[in-house]
Amino acid sequence: MCSDARSLRRWRPAHRVALAVALLLPACSPMDSALQAVAGRSMRDQPSFDPYENTRMPADGAVSFSSGNYPSGLTQDVPEFTALDMAQGGAPVNDLPNPVPVTEQSLARGEVMYDRMCAVCHGPEGNSQQAAILPKFPVMAAFPLASGLALTRSDGYLFGMITVGRGIMPAYGHQVSYSDRWHIVNYVKQVQGRNDAAGQEG
Ligand code: HEC
Repeated sequence: MCSDARSLRRWRPAHRVALAVALLLPACSPMDSALQAVAGRSMRDQPSFDPYENTRMPADGAVSFSSGNYPSGLTQDVPEFTALDMAQGGAPVNDLPNPVPVTEQSLARGEVMYDRMCAVCHGPEGNSQQAAILPKFPVMAAFPLASGLALTRSDGYLFGMITVGRGIMPAYGHQVSYSDRWHIVNYVKQVQGRNDAAGQEG
């Protein structure tokens, strides 16, 4: 037995208890909880930022992006609804009126946002056959926006789909502002009309 044991004897009882606790605790709890118990602090208490920690609090009165981004004059009571509601026919939002008039500006903005957010899966013309994702995800072919079932969807349904997604389609409500979602709806309706007209001519 070594000098360590001798020097341990010289330790005050409180230190011995602390050492025993320090040696025992890691067996049943994570090391940093053990250090927290013994030393009163752990490696986790440090001035660096935690993952996902807000480094700065939002300004007073800030409205979170996903809560709507309502521009003035465009306030609307949007009911609570989920992707499951959309899968079951979209009852809560089917009759939601579209508050954004179909103007050139709305369609132009809708096109920019559609090309950015939707075209990769649904194709630039709403015909999923031309979607960039198709070779890797052939199931997309079953969900064109400019033909089939999608033609029967109301503006409110499209808005709902974009906001919360449905089935294997992701939600975009947290990435696309409230008014941009309606601009996309206007644009999708225009694309649907365009394809419909082309279909009738051909
Ligand atoms: C990551 C790929 C992806 C993106 C991006 C995407 N969608 Fe979808 N979308 C899907 C899939 C997959 C479905 C089928 C969902 C299901 O499982 O029911 C779908 C279905 C839909 C439907 C329902 C069609 C029907 O037949 O009922 C609409 C409407 C729709 N998407 C609109 C949009 C709009 C508008 C955007 C852009 C904001 C968009 N999607 C972006 C993958 C995508």
